[in-house]
Amino acid sequence: MNNNPLQGRTLAVAGDLSVDEQRYLYRKTRALKEAWRNGGDMDQFRIHDPELGVYLMFLEVSTRTKESFRNAASFHEVKLNVFDASTSSFKKSESLVDTVKMLFGYSRRSIFVMRTKMEGVCRALEEQIGAYADRLGRERPVFINGGDGRHEHPTQEYLDQLTFLERKGWDESHIHVALIGDLHHGRTIHSKADGLKAFHSVKVDLVAPVELSLPPSYKSRMEDNGFEVTEWESIEEYLSGNDVSDIWYFTRLQLERMSDEVRERETELRRAVTFKERFLTRLPEETRFFHPLPRHREKPVIPSFLDSTHLNGWDEQSINGYFTRIIELAMVAGKIGSDFDGESPVISEKDETFINEIPVTRKTSVKDRFKVGIKPVENGTVIDHIAKGKPVEEIWNRVDKVRRTLKLNVRSSHGVFHTNNPDDFKGIVSLPDILEISHTELKKLAAVSPECTLNIIRDSSIIKKYRLSMPPKIYKFNEISCKNPECVTYPGAYQHVPPFFYRTRGETFTCRYCGRRHAYGDIWDI
Ligand code: CP
Repeated sequence: MNNNPLQGRTLAVAGDLSVDEQRYLYRKTRALKEAWRNGGDMDQFRIHDPELGVYLMFLEVSTRTKESFRNAASFHEVKLNVFDASTSSFKKSESLVDTVKMLFGYSRRSIFVMRTKMEGVCRALEEQIGAYADRLGRERPVFINGGDGRHEHPTQEYLDQLTFLERKGWDESHIHVALIGDLHHGRTIHSKADGLKAFHSVKVDLVAPVELSLPPSYKSRMEDNGFEVTEWESIEEYLSGNDVSDIWYFTRLQLERMSDEVRERETELRRAVTFKERFLTRLPEETRFFHPLPRHREKPVIPSFLDSTHLNGWDEQSINGYFTRIIELAMVAGKIGSDFDGESPVISEKDETFINEIPVTRKTSVKDRFKVGIKPVENGTVIDHIAKGKPVEEIWNRVDKVRRTLKLNVRSSHGVFHTNNPDDFKGIVSLPDILEISHTELKKLAAVSPECTLNIIRDSSIIKKYRLSMPPKIYKFNEISCKNPECVTYPGAYQHVPPFFYRTRGETFTCRYCGRRHAYGDIWDI
């Protein structure tokens, strides 16, 4: 039995390691660096397994993530395979799943390090190739996200946190950090919403013009995690405040991910987040600058005149990528981790009840009830309160959606009617031939029309009544899709990964793969 909770773990997002697990990673990296510096025992960290294939699949450009993983894999004395995407059968439109399935067959154990423009790839592969491995009775492969589009970059996050901890002399109690630059597209910034939890108390200053500001879903995740968050539109404005951080984390403008409209404004956007010599006197003492790199060689947000000053924290940060990635590989390969005794991530997928049978308080005749334009149902089912209180057009759309999703091509009638309140409307669908509705159909109905009620009628009396509410997860429907064109589930990506949403703050639905948050109505294609 495997008693190492870290072995075999996929790292698709920063939150795939619990805070305790992240701190374990940082402690082990610290020990590794000390052993490396002092000529200590490095073999305690080394996997040394020629049967373990480490596949570097970089489908987007990279220098430091790719090279630090390549060097880390060499350190481990494993089978290293650098996949050449540019000459691969991707050029013949092969899917990722088919490609990875084939590579998985070449080694007894495998770790895939992926960089893609497509978002959510590692989670999708973990599920799909994991199920394939189960069918073959083989060990499931591990997937490590080396950056997926504008989504997340967890291993960059872990090296950033290690660097911050070193800077703070390993004091985990508090961090005050300024995040500056392209916070909208920057995946290293997005991973900070969970990664900064390594500190007990967190204050984050977001410095970016509106066009480059942090997407609300990440900002609210930071707030939900208890971070104190403030926003500023430029470095100039930030320095005019009276609580400036001494840890500045810059990111480059991700021109390749911007819309044409935003890219046209590059000069002024860059100006707002580029450090200038005249700012030097306004910095707190002992300030350090960090940057995941690369820097733009012509127009860097951290100008090169700062390279040899005490502000330079980014060079050491970059080298930390090698050491943290050695430890990450050792953890997921099971070389280290059996001495870990903290908490693993809590699976937070709620399994709450969203179909409630409610008592039928009066076995009233329905003749007096569903009577405006709909023939009273003597025996059958009536779906009531559809989109109650919404604008009439929206109610009609919902009635239409209910009919199409549940394939109600039967003798029936429907309409939009007043509720008891003359200013309020609701939709009703009556189905005289249907006397039973399955649990699966009820789940579908709850997803399509939360808050409706369903009445089963026999001999003109309601004998059963259900009140439905918004389900915590919506999946297994042909009529839904993620609207992020970069998501691995996006229909146009042809990766054949079914969409899956879970309910988040304010009745929004977040894609399990790319993390994009949708308004409820936006997940539906009908
Ligand atoms: N920080 C980072 O991901 O750098 P590369 O794009 O060079 O890998």
